[in-house]
Amino acid sequence: MKRMILVVDDEQNMQTVIRMILEDAGYVVEVADGGEAGLAHLTNPNLDVVLSDLKMPGMAGEEFIRACREERPDVPVIVVTAHGTIRSAVQSINAGATDYLTKPFEPEELEIAVHNAIKLRDILHENLRLRETVTESLARRRLMGTSQAVQRLVEEIKRVAPYRTSVLITGESGTGKELVARTIHETSTRHQQPWVAINCSAIPHDLMESELFGYVKGAFTGAAQSRLGRLEQAQGGTLFLDEIGDLEPALQGKLLRVLQEREFFPVGSDQVRSADVRFLAATNRDLKELVRQGRFREDLLYRLDVYNIVVPPLRDRGEDIALLAESFLREISQEMDKPVQRFTQDALRILLYYRWPGNVRELRNAVERSLLSCKGQEIDVQDLPEAIRGATAQRQEPGCAPNGGNDHDLDSWLADVERRAILKALEHCGGIQAHAAKRLGISERSLWHRIKKLNIQINRNFI
Ligand SMILES: Nc1ncnc2c1ncn2[C@@H]1O[C@H](COP(=O)(O)OP(=O)(O)OP(=O)(O)O)[C@@H](O)[C@H]1O
Ligand SMILES: [Mg+2]
Repeated sequence: MKRMILVVDDEQNMQTVIRMILEDAGYVVEVADGGEAGLAHLTNPNLDVVLSDLKMPGMAGEEFIRACREERPDVPVIVVTAHGTIRSAVQSINAGATDYLTKPFEPEELEIAVHNAIKLRDILHENLRLRETVTESLARRRLMGTSQAVQRLVEEIKRVAPYRTSVLITGESGTGKELVARTIHETSTRHQQPWVAINCSAIPHDLMESELFGYVKGAFTGAAQSRLGRLEQAQGGTLFLDEIGDLEPALQGKLLRVLQEREFFPVGSDQVRSADVRFLAATNRDLKELVRQGRFREDLLYRLDVYNIVVPPLRDRGEDIALLAESFLREISQEMDKPVQRFTQDALRILLYYRWPGNVRELRNAVERSLLSCKGQEIDVQDLPEAIRGATAQRQEPGCAPNGGNDHDLDSWLADVERRAILKALEHCGGIQAHAAKRLGISERSLWHRIKKLNIQINRNFI
């Protein structure tokens, strides 16, 4: 597609010359007689570069440039000034112009300036796009769930996020430990500073130290240049030490020193560096047991475990399964561009019945695989992964989910789960419905409707 240049100039001759040069160079040119007329073109999404005169009757050039920057931060502005008015050129750069040309100019000068501005435009555009996808994917990676367990997690996160307190996040594999850590960072005052994660079990032991602390040139054979470690990359921000239980003993001592002194040495350097870093760590192993076995330093455990957040397994928060499954379905079907909106009642029943040893990650993968095999509008039993269907068929014990059977069972089971959740919340909040609704993550009105629908008798003891 041809690139579009807006030329804002009150002189007829100038307009004609610039138009000729740029059209010859393969651009589409729009012309406006002055600032006011120029503003109308700023809403054109195809606009790539603005070329504006500085001295024009009516709206001042500088004012127009400011308006451009505000309205279209993605579009570079080149200012054209009369010879010898460098001061005004400086003013226009201050106002946000990206480049300037002095009259009279050679056709090539104009072409080069426009060519560079187009390059800048592409970078700005890409930047905006990236920023949007990052925020979007962060928003999508929200910690979801209406169960009390998740509500409690959210409260704990809010409580510890503002401080530099180290937090140890424990829980089974796939429960959402990394998501919790990320949410702590995102809700902390450090959210605009770096988030750096390091997986202690994925990096070979002999590389771990230089990965964490960095190294200086000549520190070891092959260290041709200095390299920053993750600790330094995380300056001012948060360092997430994933699978901390797998950190080898020698490094446990070095990490302890950083936590105590807030200082460290890059490999091969005797110059101490200070670390302004918040530490979050996660593990699915029992660190106390590792301490007993002599494989994890007790002092390091205490330093990391200033605050412990336990992420419960999915089977202990059955109320979240349907919500998570449906939200993963929406998200992944959109990515795959497949118009599947729902699970059938039977498929949902199986999801609720299953014990999810791999927790939320397993649920997400199951939804993705079901979507791949689904040919209809809804995900049905035969679309679910074999392992999940098989395991459910064998399980008979009630309590976690309904007993197979018909849709009626599912409804009454769901009603039962709902009733219990509401009663628990009311109990916890001393019967105050407004508080209970908040705890459940629903509106007061919705709570009131549910209480009516489920015919819940409010226990007088609450009040
Ligand atoms: N409450 C939740 N809401 C939405 N998505 C979640 C939730 N919990 C977990 N997930 C998603 O499930 C997947 C696994 O989560 P995560 O990687 O945080 O788990 P983990 O506990 O760190 O697992 P592992 O122990 O295997 O490292 C991710 O895709 C995450 O976004
Ligand atoms: Mg993890």
